[in-house]
Amino acid sequence: MTRIGVLISGSGSNLQAIIDAVEQGRVNGELVLVISNDPDAYGLVRAANHRIPTAVIVHTDYASREAYDRALVDALQAAGVELVCLAGFMRVITPVFINAFPEKIINIHPALLPAFPGTHGQGQTFAYGTRVAGCTVHFVDDQVDHGPIIIQAVVPVLPDDDEDALAARILRCEHKIYPEAVRLFCDGRLRIDGRKVKILGQEENAAGLGETYLINPPLS
Ligand code: GRF
Repeated sequence: MTRIGVLISGSGSNLQAIIDAVEQGRVNGELVLVISNDPDAYGLVRAANHRIPTAVIVHTDYASREAYDRALVDALQAAGVELVCLAGFMRVITPVFINAFPEKIINIHPALLPAFPGTHGQGQTFAYGTRVAGCTVHFVDDQVDHGPIIIQAVVPVLPDDDEDALAARILRCEHKIYPEAVRLFCDGRLRIDGRKVKILGQEENAAGLGETYLINPPLS
């Protein structure tokens, strides 16, 4: 069983989706540590409700990003973590962290990367006026929201949407694809090949929709 650590800063609804998947036996892993940089993050309550060990490591207690990341790495390594999931963790991580867990850190981003990296991916998408939006789970490399992509989900942007409605639709998809990415990782099915992630055992052309594409607005 893969030992999973999750880093959060806020609500932790993606953490909850991973907890649920683990408890339902959909993920061959165990959650051994949840770390927050914010002591008030509701995700800490979620973790405690499921008896998952938690730690609060506050970035302002450290003199540099590197010193902070060293503290994160120490806590994760002490817990024997083998997969690190960034789930709404609002800190940019440094090579100190990335090099301690090579190809073992994944992140969820609320936009269809490489479009709209950085903060407020949903808001950037909405403001731009795209017809589709979505979310991405990717391996973390040394650039923000940049590493090889594991899984993406696409949702339509609807005429009556406001930013909150779109963000909620994207978030519902996040809760589906993040546990799936964790499941694939824990089953040893992910292989990074340059920019691409190969999924072992996946059928060719198994894109879920077959030849049906999301076209928005629909063809008349
Ligand atoms: C999500 O939209 C995630 O994509 C982004 O931050 C948000 C975290 O939400 N990185 P939650 O804390 O998992 O509810």
